[in-house]
Amino acid sequence: MGSEYFDYIRDLLKDRSGLAVSLDKTYLIDTRLLPVARKHGYDTIVDMVKALKIRHNEALVVEIAEAMNTHESLFFRDVEPFELFKNIILPQVLQRRKDTRRMRIWCAACSSGQEPYSLAMLLHEEAHRLSGWNMEIVATDISHSVLARAKEGLFSQFEVQRGLPVQMLVKHFAQEGDYWRISDKIRKAVTFKAFNLLTDPRGLGRFDVVFCRNVLIYFDLETKRKVLDALGGVIAPDGVLFLGSSESTIGLTEQLWPVEAGLGVYKHTGSPPSLAELP
Ligand SMILES: C[S@@+](CC[C@H](N)C(=O)[O-])C[C@H]1O[C@@H](n2cnc3c(N)ncnc32)[C@H](O)[C@@H]1O
Repeated sequence: MGSEYFDYIRDLLKDRSGLAVSLDKTYLIDTRLLPVARKHGYDTIVDMVKALKIRHNEALVVEIAEAMNTHESLFFRDVEPFELFKNIILPQVLQRRKDTRRMRIWCAACSSGQEPYSLAMLLHEEAHRLSGWNMEIVATDISHSVLARAKEGLFSQFEVQRGLPVQMLVKHFAQEGDYWRISDKIRKAVTFKAFNLLTDPRGLGRFDVVFCRNVLIYFDLETKRKVLDALGGVIAPDGVLFLGSSESTIGLTEQLWPVEAGLGVYKHTGSPPSLAELP
């Protein structure tokens, strides 16, 4: 593909979803966008780009941005963040919010729902401590197709075998042919919405805990900075941010700082939550 066409796709992706594609990743453009081009009647990606340059086609642009996203996710991904959430962060929030009895969690790039449903299952395990509490899990993603899957709550055998403890599978899922459907109780504990992390999140309200895992890795430095600053604006002063294991706030924002090195949990600079204060 000539550089003129590569530049067009690269700019479109950065503009729409923040995805940064370097020249060494052009193979990704080829493998993911050729099927889109063919579906729309073009022989090549270059033909599709030429047509888009002549006449804008919003539906096609959305499809291109969507096709380039990576939606890989699994239940209780990396295990440790969920252990930390359950054993340390949740007790802290329950203590700090004991007057309002309200806790808000945001999964900011939730893909097909494994992350927010993992949190909903954990909260279900803690139900004895949450009586009278208003617990809210808001789960968002830019992709309408993964959100539709997440809302459906139907997972393949392969998906439920990745990270989901068998007791939780038995307790919260019912088999439907080759698939497993999550219980209504867990499904209804999560509110799914479309949201682009490149836009202002303040309309979603303020959160005690934000999971924004395994999405910043796809952005360039400038976009990571903007997104982290925006997240800082909606995380409560004593709230926390969970990032993916290869992501960090260091060198990107002054607002959020690791609670402790290597844990993947971040707090507002100078704010109270620290693991040391825990029992
Ligand atoms: C690799 S998945 C991560 C899923 C989950 N957080 C996890 O760690 O398993 C990345 C998700 O980020 C979403 N995404 C990419 N760009 C986005 C943006 N600008 N705003 C919101 N979501 C975005 C993709 O659609 C995809 O579902």
